[in-house]
Amino acid sequence: MQNTPTPSANASGADDPRCIPHKLTAPLPVGDQCPYPAYTAEEHEVWRSLYDRMEMLLPGRAADEFLTGLLALDLGKQRIPALAEVSRKLSRTTNWQIARTPGLLDAHDFFSYLARRIFPCTDYLRSRAELDYTPAPDCFHDIFGHTPMIMHPRFANFYQKIGQAAVNCPDPAVEEGLTRIYWFTVEFGLINNPGGPRIYGNGIISSAGETQHSLTDQVKKIAYRPEALAAQPYDIWHFQETLFVIESFDQLEQEFVRWARDHRLL
Ligand SMILES: [Fe+2]
Repeated sequence: MQNTPTPSANASGADDPRCIPHKLTAPLPVGDQCPYPAYTAEEHEVWRSLYDRMEMLLPGRAADEFLTGLLALDLGKQRIPALAEVSRKLSRTTNWQIARTPGLLDAHDFFSYLARRIFPCTDYLRSRAELDYTPAPDCFHDIFGHTPMIMHPRFANFYQKIGQAAVNCPDPAVEEGLTRIYWFTVEFGLINNPGGPRIYGNGIISSAGETQHSLTDQVKKIAYRPEALAAQPYDIWHFQETLFVIESFDQLEQEFVRWARDHRLL
């Protein structure tokens, strides 16, 4: 759920080893402890191709708040960013840090990091054959997709509270609702900006196809209420047919806190 797969029509990667969550037996390296991998020239090229494509698609589609975060992060498209460097920028802005994860994490491990304002992030990249689709998270999804929103103070607080609520959740039925709230906000959220509905969910933003699909009339758009999100099933293997629209990140956090308190999670 951290890094949900990038949805794509008729795709199936459920048996891919990248989709099997890791249960941690030791703490992850955080911030400056994250080593910079020996990426190949081809991997930097793939990063640039992914970045170039999204740079063309995002204006008029991505939320103003996402674009502000992306600009402030100054990730650069010539080389894959270093997790330690991104972590320092987050730390200065919203007091978040990045930990290097070997892949998908066990949900409890993942949420316990979020609860401490640490984002578990991959540092490997999809191959060129997977530009349009990867069955599991990679660093384009995690860095380009996730970290710009963590630069936003109110979103950053909301993201921590999701982690805290999940860690405190003893009831599988409530946990399923929380998973759906995570999916329809962090991964697939829309916001009403002054220019109209825009994307802030990184599951959309790290997928060119979903980015083009999400704002069309083929997608039913419903006003954000945590109760409605918690009751809405989702399909990870196809483009989303229903999305939820917040009015502001203040509303996102306030309404979530109300819902979480109603369920005694915060
Ligand atoms: Fe994700």
